[in-house]
Amino acid sequence: MKPQAGWLVLLLLSLVSLCLSIPLRNFLMEQENMRRIGGNLLLGMREEQVNEKLRSLKEMEVAKAKNTGYFPPSMHFFRAKSLIDQSAVFSILKRMPKGAVLHLHDYAILSAEWLVHNATYLPYCYICFTHVGTVQFRFSKPHPSSPAPPNCSEWVLLETYRKQLRNVSEFDNSLLRNLTLVTEAPELTYPTQEFIWTRFENVFFTASGLICYAPVFKAYFYQGLLELYEDNIQYVEIRALLPTVYELDGTQHNQSWSVATYQEVTRQFVKDHPDFIGAKIIFTVPRKLNVSQIKDAVYMAMALRASFPDTLAGFDLVGYEDEGRSLWDLKDVLTIPYSLGVNLPYFFHAGETDWQGTSVDYNVLDALLLNSSRIGHGFSLIKHLVAKNLSLKKDVPIELCPISNQVLKLVSDLRNHPAAELMAEGHPMVVSPDDPSVFGSKGVSYDFYEVFMGIGGMSADLRTLKQLALNSLKYSSLLPEKKAKAKQVWQKKWEQFIVDLSNAFPREL
Ligand SMILES: *[C@@H]1O[C@H](CO)[C@@H](O)[C@H](O)[C@H]1NC(C)=O
Ligand SMILES: *[C@@H]1O[C@H](CO)[C@@H](O)[C@H](O)[C@H]1NC(C)=O
Ligand SMILES: *[C@@H]1O[C@H](CO)[C@@H](O)[C@H](O)[C@H]1NC(C)=O
Ligand SMILES: *[C@@H]1O[C@H](CO)[C@@H](O)[C@H](O)[C@H]1NC(C)=O
Ligand SMILES: *[C@@H]1O[C@H](CO)[C@@H](O)[C@H](O)[C@H]1NC(C)=O
Ligand SMILES: *[C@@H]1O[C@H](CO)[C@@H](O)[C@H](O)[C@H]1NC(C)=O
Ligand SMILES: *[C@@H]1O[C@H](CO)[C@@H](O)[C@H](O)[C@H]1NC(C)=O
Ligand SMILES: *[C@@H]1O[C@H](CO)[C@@H](O)[C@H](O)[C@H]1NC(C)=O
Ligand SMILES: [Zn+2]
Repeated sequence: MKPQAGWLVLLLLSLVSLCLSIPLRNFLMEQENMRRIGGNLLLGMREEQVNEKLRSLKEMEVAKAKNTGYFPPSMHFFRAKSLIDQSAVFSILKRMPKGAVLHLHDYAILSAEWLVHNATYLPYCYICFTHVGTVQFRFSKPHPSSPAPPNCSEWVLLETYRKQLRNVSEFDNSLLRNLTLVTEAPELTYPTQEFIWTRFENVFFTASGLICYAPVFKAYFYQGLLELYEDNIQYVEIRALLPTVYELDGTQHNQSWSVATYQEVTRQFVKDHPDFIGAKIIFTVPRKLNVSQIKDAVYMAMALRASFPDTLAGFDLVGYEDEGRSLWDLKDVLTIPYSLGVNLPYFFHAGETDWQGTSVDYNVLDALLLNSSRIGHGFSLIKHLVAKNLSLKKDVPIELCPISNQVLKLVSDLRNHPAAELMAEGHPMVVSPDDPSVFGSKGVSYDFYEVFMGIGGMSADLRTLKQLALNSLKYSSLLPEKKAKAKQVWQKKWEQFIVDLSNAFPREL
């Protein structure tokens, strides 16, 4: 706000008692709108036209939702998804070039259908059944020699097992359920956050037996990039645990191999799809490890970044935040790179909690003090005014993952997501899917829908969307030259998107 504007407001406010001034009201509303994400963007003529149509489509969908009582952002995503699939706004969001996805985990990139219908049908796939209703997988030739894993049945060759089943597609559906959280009655299936996190971690454990088999590891990543590319995403940063990848004969590969493989597969993918920019890896370890294990991981991260400076973007800690170590507990370990003069960028998950004032809740502040480049979730940031200011001042964005926050029970009606306030303030942020395959989602379009329709409310428009896409590139860890190129690629796609929409609209409406 300019100083003159401040005086004008005071002057006009002093008149309020006399009469409600329409110019004052308009001026104040304009003030609010300017602060919102994208509020300062100037749209071109065609963009303005498209914006108007988009707004009217949105109004129609909201009006319809008010009529039927079913508004997807206020429903659980598992029930909302089929409604979103029918939405005209959603079909536009799918076509929109969305820039970068900056918060996405290694085992949850690609729809679980591929794991079940393709990976488990590869030869030499063994399965075992636990007594808590989950399964584990292992590829091996010959028959896995080690005893059955703890708490699991003997290894059974899946091909043989399927042969004696009466209904294979029913069985395959049960495998799908092992690889996602999707269920018809999520509120009943998952009564608490602790409960759903246990299941969530089981899903990853089940998936790892498949994904850590070297041929699947490569194919999964390639197919995953394809799924993202098809959702009109131009670049990704993957949080990766870099687990031991194995071969059929039991040979094991270390972390360097995994990073090199991610790099190779990315190169191949970019060669096949020249309008895709690429992928980087953020090395992660579970935050429940002990201090000395996390210390080892920090050294590993520095070594990997030295070997793969273009691919390894930095380091992060993952897992259920309320039950893991706080960043403050780890401060001595996390300041090692700095004290050695080594640049190891951090991308900390922080504030993925409803527990205000706990040591874990202060992770949002500590992430900023540790110079985190971005904040994963930052769900609790609005409860910490100084941290929020610091994040603004340091231009550190939050990575907003709405569907994840809802499924993992931090918030139920997404209109009440705390990021609504941050959007209204124009706080730096990007939109990400976190673990789309586990939530039965795909790419980042569904999350954009929740942000556009629910969190941003009626005020969110094309400028909001454009700013979010621009942010995703701005806050990526691409180096300046690559970033400029990515921006160019995106810009060209954006212009085409606007042209296509302005041509399509007269017919579609
Ligand atoms: C996955 O399996 C299906 C069914 O067997 C097949 O049609 C499809 O081509 C496979 N996809 C890939 C990427 O291998
Ligand atoms: C096996 O299951 C028991 C009971 O559910 C549990 O206490 C134990 O930790 C499990 N062991 C392993 C290695 O998972
Ligand atoms: C097999 O199970 C699927 C899914 O439960 C069902 O739709 C299908 O009708 C069943 N097929 C047979 C032959 O029973
Ligand atoms: C996982 O698959 C097994 C084997 O078919 C099945 O018994 C179990 O119910 C599945 N688990 C879930 C959570 O659906
Ligand atoms: C992985 O193994 C290769 C050789 O097999 C070695 O050069 C590399 O340093 C190892 N990397 C790590 C992170 O241990
Ligand atoms: C950390 O965990 C590892 C592996 O479980 C164990 O060997 C080590 O003793 C633990 N260190 C500390 C300091 O607790
Ligand atoms: C973070 O950056 C500031 C300013 O560059 C520096 O003073 C501080 O020591 C850094 N802290 C860490 C943990 O890297
Ligand atoms: C946050 O920043 C704003 C604007 O710079 C300032 O007015 C406010 O006092 C700050 N709040 C806190 C808690 O630091
Ligand atoms: Zn995450």
